[in-house]
Formats: sequence, C-alpha cells, structure tokens
Amino acid sequence: MESKYFILFLLSFYSFIPKISSTTTNVINTNQFITDGDTIVSSGGTFELGFFSPNGSTTRYIGIWYKQILPYVQTIVWVANREKPLTNTSSVVLKVNKPGILALLNDKNETIWSTNTSRSVQNPVAVLLDSGNLVLKDANDDNPENFLWQSFNFPTDTHLPDMKLGKNFKTGIEVYLLAWKNDNDPTPGEYSLHIDPTGYPQGLIRHGARVSARAGPWNGLRWSGAPAPLQTQTSIYTFQFVFNEEEVYYSFSLINNSLLTRLVLTNNGYIQRLTWVDRTKSWHLYLNIPLDTCDTYSLCGAYGSCVIDSSPVCGCLDKFEPKYPQNWQTGDWSQGCVRKTPIDCNKEHGFLKYSGIKLPETNNSQYNKTMTLEGCRQVCSTNCSCTAYSSLDISNGDKGCLFWSGELIDIRELSGRGQDIYIRMDSSDIVSQASSNRKKTGTVLAVSFSLLVAVILLGLILFMYIRKKKKLKLKEDFELPQFQLSLITRATNNFSVNNQIGEGGYGPVYKGVLEEGQEIAVKRLSRTSMQGIDEFKNEVTYIAKLQHRNLVRLLGCCIQGEEKMLIYEYMPNKSLDSYIFG
Ligand SMILES: *[C@@H]1O[C@H](CO)[C@@H](O)[C@H](O)[C@H]1NC(C)=O
Ligand SMILES: *[C@@H]1O[C@H](CO)[C@@H](O)[C@H](O)[C@H]1NC(C)=O
Ligand SMILES: *[C@@H]1O[C@H](CO)[C@@H](O)[C@H](O)[C@H]1NC(C)=O
Ligand SMILES: *[C@@H]1O[C@H](CO)[C@@H](O)[C@H](O)[C@H]1NC(C)=O
Ligand SMILES: *[C@@H]1O[C@H](CO)[C@@H](O)[C@H](O)[C@H]1NC(C)=O
Ligand SMILES: *[C@@H]1O[C@H](CO)[C@@H](O)[C@H](O)[C@H]1NC(C)=O
Ligand SMILES: *[C@@H]1O[C@H](CO)[C@@H](O)[C@H](O)[C@H]1NC(C)=O
Ligand SMILES: *[C@@H]1O[C@H](CO)[C@@H](O)[C@H](O)[C@H]1NC(C)=O
Repeated sequence: MESKYFILFLLSFYSFIPKISSTTTNVINTNQFITDGDTIVSSGGTFELGFFSPNGSTTRYIGIWYKQILPYVQTIVWVANREKPLTNTSSVVLKVNKPGILALLNDKNETIWSTNTSRSVQNPVAVLLDSGNLVLKDANDDNPENFLWQSFNFPTDTHLPDMKLGKNFKTGIEVYLLAWKNDNDPTPGEYSLHIDPTGYPQGLIRHGARVSARAGPWNGLRWSGAPAPLQTQTSIYTFQFVFNEEEVYYSFSLINNSLLTRLVLTNNGYIQRLTWVDRTKSWHLYLNIPLDTCDTYSLCGAYGSCVIDSSPVCGCLDKFEPKYPQNWQTGDWSQGCVRKTPIDCNKEHGFLKYSGIKLPETNNSQYNKTMTLEGCRQVCSTNCSCTAYSSLDISNGDKGCLFWSGELIDIRELSGRGQDIYIRMDSSDIVSQASSNRKKTGTVLAVSFSLLVAVILLGLILFMYIRKKKKLKLKEDFELPQFQLSLITRATNNFSVNNQIGEGGYGPVYKGVLEEGQEIAVKRLSRTSMQGIDEFKNEVTYIAKLQHRNLVRLLGCCIQGEEKMLIYEYMPNKSLDSYIFG
C-alpha cells in the first residue's frame, strides 16, 4: 500500500493523476492509472483486465481474463508483458500517455511494455470492450477503423470470438497465435498458428519456422483437412473465412453471448476449441487438432497418402511407388513416392481422379475463383508443369480451381469428407477404374492394369472393326450387347463431370448406375483415337476369343451417331486381383 502512495506522490509532481476509482470502469484515460490490485471490467462484465500471476507462479503480468468464471477458474485470454515478467509490482503503473499509448512504467518512468501507434489523437483512452478486445482510441471516436491499437491484432495464445486471424494486405499486419511456453508461463513458446496466404491460404501450425501440421486450404465449407462439422452452423458458434484483395482471415462468432467458446494454441502445438459448461463449471474440450498421426505434416512424403486405420499408415497414391523401397520398409516415409510411369512432357497425358482426400500443400499453388472444373482441366492440361487440379469451392457444387505445380505433399485419406483431386498421369496409367487412391507396394496390379489398358485399346479397335462390318458378331458363341445412348446418358447423369473417374488420350471414363442398379464404367471414345485400326484387327479378334468377357467384364457397347462407348462393369476397390486370380 505504501509504495502505491509513493508512486502517486511521485506522479503528482508532474500532474495530479488519480489512481483509478474503485467503482467499476472499462476505461483508462490520461488522467488515471492502475496499479497491482486494480482492474477494469468490460461494459457487459464479461472480461476483466489487471495484474495476475499464472497458476503456480508468483511473477506478475498484465492480462485479460473472463470475469464471470473467475471464481471457478482463472482463464487468461491475453497477456501484455509476456516477455517482461515482473517480480515486484509495488511501483509499477499502467497508464495512457499522449499521443495514444498504453504503457507499463516503473518508478523511474521507464517503459516495461507499451502499445505502439503511428498516429495521434486529441483525447486518447484505453477501453476494454466486451469482446475481450483492449483498444486505444480517441474518447469520442468509436469507429474500429480509427483505433490506434487493439489487442485483437496482437493476440497471445487465444482466438476469441470476432477476432480476425489472418493477414491484412493493406497494412501488412499478420494476426496469429503464439503459444505459451508452458501452462504456467506466458513467455512465447515454440508453436504458432497462422492463416498463411502463400499460394492459396491455408491454416498452419508452425513449430519454430517449420510447419508441424496443416489444416489445408479453405474449401468453401471448412479447411480441407478439418473434421467436418455435422452442420455448417453449430449450435453455439458460426464461423467464416474471408479472402479478397484486402485481407484474408478466419473468424467465428457466438450465437448466444452467454455460451462461451474460444480457440487456444497449446504449448505442445494443439489447437483446442474449448466450451464453457456451466453445469460442471469447467471448460470442456470440443475439438483437438491435430486429430491423429496422419495430421503430422508431410508424414508420407511426396505422393504418399496417410490412412489412419491401416498399418503402416503410409502408402503411395495409386500408380505411385516408394522412391526408396528399402527406406520405406523401415518406416522412413519422408522421401515419398514416385510415378511408376514417369511423365514425359512430349507424350500424351490425362488426369486421374483421386477421391476422399485432404488437398495437398498449396503454398506453391495457383487459383482462379470463377472457372468451372472443365475449364480447370483444360488450363492444367495445356501446361505440363501443372501437376494437378481440383475444385476451389465445393460449398455449392464445384466452383473455381486450384492448380498445383511440382510434387504433391501432405495428403491423407478422409473417408466421407475428403475432396477430389485430378492428378496428371501418363495415358497408359488411365484405366477404366481405379477407385482406390493408394495401393500397397509391389502388387500384381501393375501387371493387371497394363493388361486392362491393352484390352481397352483393343476393344476400341474392335468396335471400329465391328462397325465397319455393320455386325456385332465376333464369334459364334459371343454376341456383344448394344446399349441405347439414352440409357447411358441417364446412367451417367448426362456425362456429368462429377461422374468422371478418369481421363485418357482416348477419352474420359465415367461411372454410372443403370436403372436396375448395376454400377458401370463407361469409356467414351474420342474421335482422335481412330488410328491404327487395321494393324490391330487381327489382335482384337484374338483378344476377343481369349477374354471370355469375364476378364474385364465388358458388358457391351454403345454406338450411336458420333458416339462410341465401351461399357464395363464398375470394378470396386481392389477387386481386380480377384477377377484375375479369384
Ligand atoms: C493450478 O495447478 C494445480 C496443480 O497443477 C491444478 O490442480 C489446478 O487445477 C490449477 N488451477 C488452474 C486454475 O488451472
Ligand atoms: C519492491 O520495490 C519497491 C520500490 O521499488 C521496494 O521498496 C521494495 O523493497 C521491493 N520489494 C521487494 C520484495 O523487493
Ligand atoms: C514519462 O515518460 C513519458 C514518455 O515516455 C512522458 O511523456 C512523460 O512525461 C514522462 N512522465 C514523467 C513523470 O516523467
Ligand atoms: C507495432 O509493433 C509491432 C510489433 O512489434 C509491429 O509489427 C508494428 O509494425 C508496430 N506498429 C507501428 C505503427 O509502429
Ligand atoms: C442464451 O443462453 C442462456 C443460457 O443457456 C439462456 O438462458 C438464454 O435464453 C439464451 N438466449 C437466447 C437468445 O437464446
Ligand atoms: C512450401 O512448402 C514446402 C514444404 O514444406 C517448402 O519446401 C517450400 O519452401 C514452401 N514454399 C513456399 C513458397 O513457402
Ligand atoms: C479466371 O478465369 C476466368 C475464365 O477463364 C478469367 O476470365 C479470369 O481472368 C481468371 N482470373 C484470374 C485471376 O486469373
Ligand atoms: C506453367 O505453369 C507454371 C507453374 O504454375 C508457371 O510458372 C508457368 O508460367 C506456366 N507456363 C505457361 C506457359 O503458362
């Protein structure tokens, strides 16, 4: 107490500054100051600012906490002097100076901590808003755009409702979370949480300078790798992602101000959403990210895919194989996978669709917000350095494009909530169906896929041949059924891009469902693939004799006008082996 009076006495030499009054206020003006023991309280009574000590510590900090739940638990949401802890606050004051700075000063009027500003106002005040935002502003100006400084631009480890986490491209200010060192020490820790706009914006957790986990790009509904909320609006908060020329940010808002929720970056690199449960008078863990091992950044390397319920978790994407099989076997997956058939830019390519995945690292990607998926394919196919493309916004069908160049890293399978990506492949790798995204290494499938491709190509020639002869009879005991075009059109939703499961030099492949429920794969032959008919004629007949239709389950064909299609039975996941060996 004595020292407080001492300070008061000291300061009164220069001006008659009273200590903040005992009645609750949310403001510090230039005529007041606060010392240890004093607080200011936001107008709705939700937040309080003052000196505190972390649990199990005696060092003192200026911070903001939830006032109403303080009797149950001290929940610090912001810390001012996290790098300058105080051991003796007896002569320390927090006060507002002109031109508009809030400063923590010692008895020698030396600054321990302060806000900064490039502007000045007539009558500066510090106000604790009911959102938990501490702002420096002119007493008579409530316009947020004119705030001199606000704690929401300099958060510590907590993302509060209505705080914009991200980057303002006009001011250059990046708002990110920086974890505490440990539960009892607000000193900056090792982990930080960013909405990183490099390439296309993504949510990232960094450990030092290195990325430790990635939420992925925003897909119009959520972060690509985030768990899907059961509804887009939960019952306690709403969230939004904004990305335009001025800024990129993620924020959330409470639906009912009496139901509290916050996001915290823990000192060991987890993002936790906590909700206050009044019944138990405690915070409950609502969400914890990273979810599992597969959220470890780039665990399976380039073109690797992490599947949490398989052992080992890492595999290569279908049509890729480990770059270094020896290392891969020991669980050293970081060097990733390579194509079984390398891409030769002088040869013909197609795109293979991989479904149900978390979109890969986008820090080197390009985007277009308005293009259609078909437009994305065209753009990507004209530039051999475009490795893959996907839809940008899936909130209302497919809209916009993401284009990747270089290797694709940090992919995981997300059953039921993943997205589609179309990866550039050598034409020989595009086959009637590959519904599985990844394969374990060294299976017989490589052989069987080549066989399948050969059969498809021969099948094509076969039908040219047949058509020429105006006859579908191949052998005495082998009639190939003809399908009506209208039937196939219906089965494939009018050849919708959503039904497209692959694409080759000879044309796209669609998945379809016949009216009786049978799943089919439809290969729609493009007109450019008509060469070499005569050379293959004999071999086609030979294959037709050999295959007994069962090998690839060719159900029939459809030849009508310009359209030529081969109809196969849709091959479910990994069943090819059993067709061949079963
Ligand atoms: C403070 O730490 C003790 C011991 O670690 C713990 O039991 C208690 O719950 C903590 N209190 C708060 C408010 O975190
Ligand atoms: C705290 O600082 C005051 C004045 O600066 C001094 O008188 C007092 O002895 C100090 N207390 C401790 C415990 O160091
Ligand atoms: C303390 O320092 C601030 C600037 O750092 C200055 O404006 C103020 O007049 C000083 N007060 C005293 C009492 O020296
Ligand atoms: C205030 O300080 C922060 C962090 O030290 C810095 O990034 C920012 O540019 C400063 N602002 C002004 C107006 O000086
Ligand atoms: C907000 O939540 C409180 C506590 O659950 C409840 O009493 C109140 O009716 C709710 N208000 C609204 C507008 O839903
Ligand atoms: C993108 O991420 C990769 C892998 O973490 C890294 O090597 C590369 O430097 C990053 N590129 C940019 C532009 O940040
Ligand atoms: C996106 O694509 C559309 C249509 O192709 C084009 O008009 C537009 O300029 C593109 N936007 C950007 C930013 O490249
Ligand atoms: C092809 O794509 C790469 C990577 O996206 C880009 O740098 C390059 O400019 C593109 N080339 C052309 C001709 O568009």
